[in-house]
Amino acid sequence: MLKSIAVLTSGGDSPGMNAAARAVVRTALFEGVRVWGINNGYRGMCDDDIFELQSKNVGDIIQRGGTFLGTARCKRFETPEGRTLGYENLLKHGIQGLVIIGGDGSLRGAQKLSTEHNIPIVGLPGTIDNDVWGTDYTIGSDTAANTIIDAINKLRDTASAHRRIVVLEVMGRRCGWLAMVAGISGGAEYVLVPEEPFNIDDICQGIKKAYENGKRYCLVVIAEGVGSGIEIGKQIADKTQIDTRVSVLGHIQRGGSPSVADRVKASQLGEKAALGLISGLSDVVFGFNQGKVVSIDLNDAVTNKKELDPEYVRLAKILS
Ligand code: ADP
Ligand code: F6P
Repeated sequence: MLKSIAVLTSGGDSPGMNAAARAVVRTALFEGVRVWGINNGYRGMCDDDIFELQSKNVGDIIQRGGTFLGTARCKRFETPEGRTLGYENLLKHGIQGLVIIGGDGSLRGAQKLSTEHNIPIVGLPGTIDNDVWGTDYTIGSDTAANTIIDAINKLRDTASAHRRIVVLEVMGRRCGWLAMVAGISGGAEYVLVPEEPFNIDDICQGIKKAYENGKRYCLVVIAEGVGSGIEIGKQIADKTQIDTRVSVLGHIQRGGSPSVADRVKASQLGEKAALGLISGLSDVVFGFNQGKVVSIDLNDAVTNKKELDPEYVRLAKILS
């Protein structure tokens, strides 16, 4: 049984990270285990920005987006020297194990730390991108998808009023999950994602035909990984000669109060992470598979690439 653990959030923040960290802290305290917070992800580990947490430190945060621990991207931690420095700081506080909440990059860092220093680590997938292998769900992805839908609903009103094409660029450098679920639930005519090839001429032909048949507007959702929304919007405007506007949603989709689903799932994952770590588990990531919490091997989670669900791709095409 571990007697002292720590928690950090790393990489891009996501709504629900607070709920997850809160659950880790309160579960550990419930089990009589000391728990430490590390500020600003791996940067705080290298800088020894580490403090002990009590239950009240995680009060009034479940409803907040962002992360009360802060997060960062830390180049130093990508070197063996940086990781050794971070590890030595953990030892100074008597920390015996770590919960790391972050995206695939953060989990890659976690795997290296565990391999090099043999410290028990449990990961939780925290990213709006929903791109961590082995889990259907990542903390924050539901809230981000709902934020995008809110934007789509508004864009449709104005697009329809003017008979315009709207191109909406959403986040997702290597993964089109957000674009795909937003496209399906927002009724987009086209969804462009990095995982699927597309032909801009075919798309423009399809839009022109739809307008000839009386369509009032057209919504094209693109993941940032396929290229600049502004550039793609220009091409569509040139090729269709239809009035086109582009919106780049940006970091609005990373913030905001977490949805009920994100709060509940993050809380479930946080509890499992703390209990698992305390009882001696290491090198696992907790996630969801078909509605149930599952544990995934950390090594598998960081070496495999998550595929976009082909059912989503098929459905988006049929319904467009
Ligand atoms: P995310 O976790 O959201 O995918 P990043 O990819 O930016 O975000 O990773 C967050 C941090 O995790 C990086 O700034 C770095 O400190 C650490 N990290 C990422 N990849 C590696 C790696 N291959 N080796 C060691 N540390 C890494
Ligand atoms: O990984 C989460 C994410 O929001 C990506 O969708 C996006 O490409 C990236 O982070 C943006 O990161 P930054 O915080 O550097 O703007």
